[in-house]
Amino acid sequence: MKVAYNIPEFREARRKLNGSLGFVPTMGYLHEGHLELVRRARAENKNTAVSIFINPTQFGPREDLAAYPRDPDRDLSRLREEKVDLVLMPDAAEMYPPGYGTWVNVEGVTERLEGAARPGHFRGVATVVAKLFNIVEPTRAYFGEKDAQQLIVIKKMAADLDMGVQVITVPTVREFDGLAMSSRNVYLDLEERESALVLHKALTLARNLHSKGERNADVIRKEMTALIQEEPRAKIDYVSIADASTLDELSSIDRPAVVSLAVKIGKTRLIDNITLAG
Ligand code: PAF
Repeated sequence: MKVAYNIPEFREARRKLNGSLGFVPTMGYLHEGHLELVRRARAENKNTAVSIFINPTQFGPREDLAAYPRDPDRDLSRLREEKVDLVLMPDAAEMYPPGYGTWVNVEGVTERLEGAARPGHFRGVATVVAKLFNIVEPTRAYFGEKDAQQLIVIKKMAADLDMGVQVITVPTVREFDGLAMSSRNVYLDLEERESALVLHKALTLARNLHSKGERNADVIRKEMTALIQEEPRAKIDYVSIADASTLDELSSIDRPAVVSLAVKIGKTRLIDNITLAG
């Protein structure tokens, strides 16, 4: 496995690869969810590349950039075990040198949910992913369904800008009890870890109501909200039932819908979602 610590080093190694390249962009602190993306990339491509870069431009001023968990040595040994070919680990000064001034804004879908709660977040995500696609030149890029809105944004960006990269959705990987895997789960203490299950419980409730025939989105939102409010450590940011491609809120589930939520457990903000057929 070749580890490139800067862009020219990566490009030189990339030039030597023949055949398709599957790419997994990450911010490190890798868990099973990331490794599942890597395995899909390996299974579907001749070569596999992973980037590890904590992108400062997608964090708001009051967010957890400085505290974001890191363990590059452990990350690299996990990627070696997965037989990844190439790893890119640039530093922030190379990605955003003094005078940096070009940004990618995906309109519409970035204005709701995570975009409304975290102003500027998707501008940072779209910009860094565009830069990484330009550097890595992947055939396919793999993203987890846990960040459903991010996936919609990246798919739209890749299509609108004719990037020629196939953006592949990989289902969310969950812990044994249903908690979605996330690097931020490390912030939870034991009691908070227990309380965090309320996200999965609320989504399961939505799925059950839907499979019993409930199509009124307000009814489902209200039931989910009531369930989460029973958990004293949980503070709801949003509970959304939205059109799966535009993320417009629905009053009736008459088409594929994403049920998503953001809930603070103590100081940790967690997100999760499921998709319902119409
Ligand atoms: O999902 C993430 O980890 C990040 O948003 C990404 C796609 C690596 C961009 O920094």
